[in-house]
Amino acid sequence: MTLGGHGVESTPNNMLEQDNINKPSHVAIIMDGNGRWAEQQGQPRKVGHEEGMEAVRRVTRRASERGIDVLTLYAFSTENWKRPPQEVHFLMQLPIRFFDTFVPELQEKNVKVNMIGFEDKVPTSTKKAISKAMEQTKDNTGMILNFAFNYGGRAEILEATKELCKKVASNELSVDDIDERLFEEHLMTHSIGDYQDVDLLIRSSGEQRLSNFLLWQNAYSEFYFSELLWPEFNGDVLDEALLSYKNRQRRYGAL
Ligand code: IPE
Ligand code: IPE
Ligand code: MG
Repeated sequence: MTLGGHGVESTPNNMLEQDNINKPSHVAIIMDGNGRWAEQQGQPRKVGHEEGMEAVRRVTRRASERGIDVLTLYAFSTENWKRPPQEVHFLMQLPIRFFDTFVPELQEKNVKVNMIGFEDKVPTSTKKAISKAMEQTKDNTGMILNFAFNYGGRAEILEATKELCKKVASNELSVDDIDERLFEEHLMTHSIGDYQDVDLLIRSSGEQRLSNFLLWQNAYSEFYFSELLWPEFNGDVLDEALLSYKNRQRRYGAL
């Protein structure tokens, strides 16, 4: 496990730009620390979420420039409903403004928007904004910007299990047909195609836990922890994580 340093300017950008060796296909980020950042500024938590949105733009730009195939961002967990109603409301409205202002740039960068998570409880206006952004970018062939919104790893696995059980009960499948590949076809990340497994998992704010994020998909990912709070995160910190990944040896249990 690695602890990231600060977003210094000296990251060897050329090295990252020039070679594709050991580049992660799927980078997933637990964007944490918005509230603490706001508190440090003497501001309400929502100001931290607002600034966090700027960090999303910065990191999306850099990831797309680096040729990452899928960038999954944890934006709202199935457990975040436990927060005060006004904060939940603010977080539910954020995607509307985010896509309103950012889709033109996503188009320009050929980025395709995708979403994983449960639709229930998400306000209709938010669902509409998400569907619109997905529709507008559906023909883009560059990076997939995949938001995990009202997402929870355990609930995702349970849903897949239930679907498979129903298919067995209706004789559409037999129990022995169920293998990892078939199971993955029933996970929400099936929508990102070949890149379901996470290669590099990043978490900001110094916390070192998964918080119910992509439990199946992170089985063999490499972890990178940064002490920076999410609103302080930027493209150079992403580069540091990519550089760290470059030097990892992934063994998958083999020698
Ligand atoms: C991450 O920042 C954003 C979401 C979880 C929606 P937090 O809101 O968790 O910020 P901290 O962890 O309280 O600082
Ligand atoms: C994880 O952050 C969820 C998101 C980043 C959306 P939390 O702040 O909710 O996680 P815990 O509560 O510290 O584990
Ligand atoms: Mg947090």
